[in-house]
Amino acid sequence: MTEKATLTYNGQSIELPIIEGTLGQKGIDISKLRASTGLITYDPGFVNTGSCASSITYLDGGKGQLLYRGIPIEQIAEKSNFIETSYLIIYGHLPTKDELDDFTYHITHHSMVHESIKNLYDGFPNNPHPMAVCSAVVGSLATFYENDLGVRDTRQIEITIHRLLAKLPTIAAYSYKKSIGLPLPYPNNSLSYTENFLNMMFSTPCEEYEIDPIAAKALDLLLILHADHEQNCSTSTVRLVGSSMCNLFASVSAGIYALWGPLHGGANQAVVEMLQMIHEDGGSVEKFVEKARNPEDPFRLMGFGHRVYKNFDPRSRLVKSLAHEILEKLNIQSPLFDIALKLEEIALKDQYFIDKKLYPNVDFYSGLIYMALKIPVNMFTVMFAIGRLPGWIAQWKELQEDKGFKIGRPHQIYTGETQKDYVPIEQR
Ligand code: CMC
Repeated sequence: MTEKATLTYNGQSIELPIIEGTLGQKGIDISKLRASTGLITYDPGFVNTGSCASSITYLDGGKGQLLYRGIPIEQIAEKSNFIETSYLIIYGHLPTKDELDDFTYHITHHSMVHESIKNLYDGFPNNPHPMAVCSAVVGSLATFYENDLGVRDTRQIEITIHRLLAKLPTIAAYSYKKSIGLPLPYPNNSLSYTENFLNMMFSTPCEEYEIDPIAAKALDLLLILHADHEQNCSTSTVRLVGSSMCNLFASVSAGIYALWGPLHGGANQAVVEMLQMIHEDGGSVEKFVEKARNPEDPFRLMGFGHRVYKNFDPRSRLVKSLAHEILEKLNIQSPLFDIALKLEEIALKDQYFIDKKLYPNVDFYSGLIYMALKIPVNMFTVMFAIGRLPGWIAQWKELQEDKGFKIGRPHQIYTGETQKDYVPIEQR
């Protein structure tokens, strides 16, 4: 028998069905609430709201569990690579060898951008934030592929997926190259996804650049760990924009902007800036934990806390051990890493952090790895965007294929003036 919840209002009772996910998660289906009662629900920040049913990613905040298409993140991190993980997330199953070869081929062979795109980079002021540049350039791709923007055309969606995955690393590397006044290199199709990105970032026409396989592998793992995270802020943005039947380029461009903020993807940049500030202040970790606890002080420990994880973030454990490994392999002494370790240790024992269930999130250690790989600080969030791209694509695709597709259009509780008359300007 299907479970139901009963809502009583104004002497009238209505039954609301309980919807249950495959791993036992339950929600009250209120889709008929407004039609039958005239009421809406009020849930700022969507803290209690399930905006969709999705079969892509599962996370259990209590257990600290993350599954991509049912497979634990720990197994994927150990055994897969970013291209295979992208396929898994977008198409719902691990690819056969032929499927993977075909997917890899397309992503490799769409990596160049139209030559005119390079002109766009000249139009920005000096040293623009690369997130702004990447979002603008990704949005502009819609003007170069106007005949492939159909949102119900399988072939056009397919080629757009290939173009986005292939071109974002090129677009991202160009935003860096332009900011330091170096020529924009071409991608090299003989390299892997992350090798190609590193090569475009750090090679110059006058010198051979030797790609460090340790760096390429570490980057690949970081991209895997960011690949999807169900209905977070940027993914919800991609879905909302896509729900107007807007093309994938525009939807992803909006997602990049949503990711930029320091409460979301921008936290990886904010963490390193915070660690630097603590370092310059003399390294007293206790002082900053105290500041974070003080309700009068707006300071927050960046890289700590999560809307869903209330135990630990499984990604942060993997990133922390990767940070240890990379710093050791590259023989880097990092005072910021030492501060981060101490900060984590002290915060985890602090009653405020225990009571509020605040743990390090994926962004806490990732910036330190990017630093070790010589990726500039303002590019950290761009790295997150490259990693999150398959998730945005998969969620947009799932929405377009949903039998119950609807434009996203929340309601509000109006708190403004009640109706009054227009006053002519001379009487105000
Ligand atoms: N430092 C100090 N206090 C904190 C922190 C923090 N990092 N995070 C949350 N709190 C406190 C907050 O002040 C609040 O206290 P009170 O109940 O007394 O008002 C309580 O914990 C709950 O916080 P919230 O802001 O209501 O929780 P939320 O679920 O709305 O926000 C969050 C989640 C991630 C935005 C928040 O924890 C935060 O701002 N963290 C720092 C930024 C960060 O690391 N963001 C990356 C998130 S993970 C990757 C991603 O999604 O991009």
